[in-house]
Amino acid sequence: MLQAYSADLLIHNIGALSTPVADETECGVPQVETVNDAYLVIVDGVITEVGSGSPPAVGNALDAGGRVAVPAFCDPHTHAVFAGWRCEEFISRLQGAGYKDILAAGGGILSTVRSTRAAAQKELAAGLQGRLDEMLSRGVLTCEVKSGYGLDVESELKMLRAIRSAGEQSDIDVVSTFLGAHAVPDEYQDDPAGYIDDVVIPLIDDVADLDLAEYVDVFCEPGVFDLQLADRVLRAGRRAGLGLRIHADEMEALGGAGLAAKLQCDSAEHLLSARDDDLLRMRDAKVTAVLLPGTAFVLGEPYARARWMIDHGLTVALGTDFNPGSCPIIDISLIMSLACLKMQMTPDEVLAAVTINAARSLGRDDRGILASGFRGDVVLLDAEHFAHLMYRPGASLVHSVISGGRQVYCRK
Ligand code: NIG
Ligand code: FE
Repeated sequence: MLQAYSADLLIHNIGALSTPVADETECGVPQVETVNDAYLVIVDGVITEVGSGSPPAVGNALDAGGRVAVPAFCDPHTHAVFAGWRCEEFISRLQGAGYKDILAAGGGILSTVRSTRAAAQKELAAGLQGRLDEMLSRGVLTCEVKSGYGLDVESELKMLRAIRSAGEQSDIDVVSTFLGAHAVPDEYQDDPAGYIDDVVIPLIDDVADLDLAEYVDVFCEPGVFDLQLADRVLRAGRRAGLGLRIHADEMEALGGAGLAAKLQCDSAEHLLSARDDDLLRMRDAKVTAVLLPGTAFVLGEPYARARWMIDHGLTVALGTDFNPGSCPIIDISLIMSLACLKMQMTPDEVLAAVTINAARSLGRDDRGILASGFRGDVVLLDAEHFAHLMYRPGASLVHSVISGGRQVYCRK
């Protein structure tokens, strides 16, 4: 849960403070500015001063020990609440089974649905809490979590309540998304439209009334939900006052990115197979492309065309897609490495993608930049340059995490 207020704090002796630059980011060309020998003042949770040289006197001081400071990270796409891992599916995929074939045979997402339905809300919340702790130690202070392994009224509400209660116990600001349209449950196997009409659309209103989610999402993919059904889900979400996200063109180019543009969604996510014309429409409609290279890595699929998107003016954010199937990677810095090494993004673009761009896609415009007026959400890195985050996959560089001026993690 987000702490609105903390004591004043001076962070001094920062070797290099690196942050995306607000104005440049707004016009789509992410740039990082670095201040050497820096300090930062946080008052009432908000940054009031960034400077270099001798710092002002503030009662509460934190010596950064010459470390690098960057804005805390935001993970805008996770499926982090679930019961049961799927290691047997991993082993089958290594032997040649396809992700969608496993799903079509009742495994994959549907096997997580069975174990999640059987789990108590408390158990789901405890599992999520442990994963949020893992994310926090990697520098994440804002994180989206989707439902979507319940696929019936009771189990979807149970998941969303588990997200809420885990979020209340965590220093991470948890943003909840209703993904009832994640797969077609066994009970409706030949009738996806019936599932949407009977279960998903009525639930959208309940979820909004109960204030259990800020966003609605849909997995728009051949064999799951087609464009027409995705359109219905998203329009119902908008009528209920929710923000809109979409799993679009992940495995096949169905046109989900174009739908996202037509409905002016907050984000379209995955986009491994998205067509040029749909991507350009997304740019014009100001829909953020949330790219998830961990999933392409795990499934052995071609990566989303981040370079092309950025060169054509799209705003790109990055997330983990952390889930027990297609991407069991919880480490946002491994995602940063993949973005550089496999999608030809620059370290500057990647830093903006996991901070300001990701936060804005979740409506959190108050964070993601280290400058006056933004939240004092800071990560200190044991590194000489922020690009070590991308350069050294597998290294754990996060030393301290500061949320609104309060230190919430420090490596032992
Ligand atoms: O984003 N694409 C659909 N949903 C998830 C996978 C979830 C799972 O495999 O359990 C994804 O990749
Ligand atoms: Fe996903």
